[in-house]
Amino acid sequence: MASAGTTGGHGPSLISGADERAAEKRAAAIAAAELLEDGMRVGLGSGTTVAHLLPAIAERNLSGLRCVATSPGTEHAARELGLPLEPLEEIGDELDIAIDGADQIAPDGWIIKGGGGAQTREKIVAEAARRFVVIVSADKPVGGLSPPIPLELLAFGHTRTLRLLAPARLREAHITPDGGLLADYLGPIGDPAALTARFDAVPGLVGHGLFRPEMVSLMLIAGPDGVQRRAGAKPAS
Ligand code: 5RP
Repeated sequence: MASAGTTGGHGPSLISGADERAAEKRAAAIAAAELLEDGMRVGLGSGTTVAHLLPAIAERNLSGLRCVATSPGTEHAARELGLPLEPLEEIGDELDIAIDGADQIAPDGWIIKGGGGAQTREKIVAEAARRFVVIVSADKPVGGLSPPIPLELLAFGHTRTLRLLAPARLREAHITPDGGLLADYLGPIGDPAALTARFDAVPGLVGHGLFRPEMVSLMLIAGPDGVQRRAGAKPAS
């Protein structure tokens, strides 16, 4: 969607929707990078919003950061920027903060993630973090969640697993770094808690992109008027 807008009071200019979204992602990412302190153990999500986060963290020149990447893309970009990476196992299984993007945020705080297929690792890292911060552009908050919901399946028996998750479709030629197959659930969502319970009962499903409101500490939602902070339902620890 292209829209006419003004920038900083310098008169009208044409800004494409894509440029606007990118600027919002960057603004949310910069706001999230401000939350970091020296010595923190940090989970790094994946996606185009996180691509803005990594340089924003690097620019802060914090000392003693210990970071965990959730995807090969994030790992590569973080290394290029000199951010120190370690496996989650070596960091001691607990992170001070994790920061990640999202595909949809519902008014009640449920989130869909995994557009990039990294939802299983992202959920492990988000759960391990005392504080999980979601950074998004203004198009991500929605009136109600809608499919697709990204899924990761074990390769073994995946046709049976897909049948149990119907309606669902395999993303052809998409294999995760952990050897899983990517698919999307395409059916109605209804009550996300009930759907989560249905997913959890499917043995071959490794992970899915529905994130409970209780996983999220803070949402930083960037729009034309700046970055709005919305509290999540995760209790402070
Ligand atoms: C990747 C994700 C991303 O965080 C989500 O898809 C949002 O992506 P983007 O920041 O590119 O809009 O869950 O698995």
